[in-house]
Amino acid sequence: MNQPVKVGDKISLFIDSVANSADSVGKYETFIVFVPFAVPGDEVEVLITEVRKNFSRGKLIRVIKPSPFRVQPVCPVFGECGGCHWQEIDYKKQLTYKKQIVINAFKNFPNVKIEDVIPAKEPFFYRNKTQFPADTQQKKLGLFSLRSHFVVDVDYCPLVRKDINAIYVEIRKHLKETGFEVTTLRHVIIRASETTREAVVTFVLKNEDFRKIHILSAYLLKKFPELSILYNINRADTNVIMGDKHFTFSKDGRISEKLDKIDYQFASISFFQTNTAQASVIFKKIKEWCKDSLEKTALDLFCGVGAISLYIAKEFKEVVGVEEMGQAVLDAVANAEKNNIQNCEFLNGKSERVLVKIMKQGFKPNTILLDPPRKGCEQELLNLIPKTGADTVIYLSCDVMTLVRDLEILKKHGYEIEEVLPVDMFPMTYHIETLVKLRKANTK
Ligand SMILES: C[S@@+](CC[C@H](N)C(=O)[O-])C[C@H]1O[C@@H](n2cnc3c(N)ncnc32)[C@H](O)[C@@H]1O
Repeated sequence: MNQPVKVGDKISLFIDSVANSADSVGKYETFIVFVPFAVPGDEVEVLITEVRKNFSRGKLIRVIKPSPFRVQPVCPVFGECGGCHWQEIDYKKQLTYKKQIVINAFKNFPNVKIEDVIPAKEPFFYRNKTQFPADTQQKKLGLFSLRSHFVVDVDYCPLVRKDINAIYVEIRKHLKETGFEVTTLRHVIIRASETTREAVVTFVLKNEDFRKIHILSAYLLKKFPELSILYNINRADTNVIMGDKHFTFSKDGRISEKLDKIDYQFASISFFQTNTAQASVIFKKIKEWCKDSLEKTALDLFCGVGAISLYIAKEFKEVVGVEEMGQAVLDAVANAEKNNIQNCEFLNGKSERVLVKIMKQGFKPNTILLDPPRKGCEQELLNLIPKTGADTVIYLSCDVMTLVRDLEILKKHGYEIEEVLPVDMFPMTYHIETLVKLRKANTK
């Protein structure tokens, strides 16, 4: 194909859709141009930054004629910072674009109805955890710009809970006042509970020279006496944020959340859903799908701190959770005890390995819950599912492309999709959480 644009060209472009990424999409003649931070309906001027065989990428220079769906972003560094992508798109429109992304992803399931996306009641200030990278040489604390490791110096983030912002503002103020003398600082991770007042700050450091970070920690504790402060040492020069070594400066780094009647407590390194309010909406739906299961057994794969297992425990005779992170399993066991739930068991290991083992021991779940990380499930795990005899599979996914890849395999094994429910866990970003219910054919 003869590409009609080259790097350095300035073109005007009509934006007609969003991609399943931070980009919006327009066509120059018939050639696709991906442009972040543009709104469908915009006419924009774009600088071409990359040209490939079938598409190109561009940088938004200016909006020539704004889309009727363009709104004023609340954040002064929107577009410079890569922390979110859709703040200048009207929120109702974001929901229709997300639904369309899910519909497009499900193109190989033409008879499946995609429900409307469940909106977030609070489309701002919702994240209960955020990591802020530091650039001590440039004396900046903030968030990465899009697809780079350049730190944008942000005053606060409107996607993050207000109590997290308050802590972040004090840390940044101290760093600036002291000329970023904590040269060992790599990241600041702040986690705060939506339902209790607890918060944990983890300073990720290059080494164990704690002299300067102790001064910052002591300052912070004066402002927030209830705060737990941890140090994590990461010497590796990779994209992985945390290292293996942890130290405690104040309190034990544990945090609690309450979802409906269930009390959860977990270590700050364990996974918990980032948007507590929307997690509650999803868990309620899962529970509804599990009713009339009192004689049945559920297997909750990728169970984290037992969040879903404990939430649905009352619906089942027995629930078995599987999780590869040892600390999260300890948290899950403790959470069962704390809530006086006696029909849950938690196993440590990779889902695909543990399932082989428990099947050999004769374990036969009726319902399987899958909530894997973005990369989805291993194929060997999906191939085992029909052999368990489970008639129901509930799949919660934060990446619709790996979700449909995995659903194709489950379909080959005779599982039919009954419901697809997208939920907006991450407003102002292109990310979508999708909940799917499947039933084994001929068991309805
Ligand atoms: C998206 S989180 C879901 C956690 C939980 N369902 C919840 O709602 O809080 C995915 C979890 O899977 C765990 N994990 C990742 N790969 C795994 C594997 N192969 N086997 C078991 N657990 C795994 C992660 O440690 C993480 O706790």
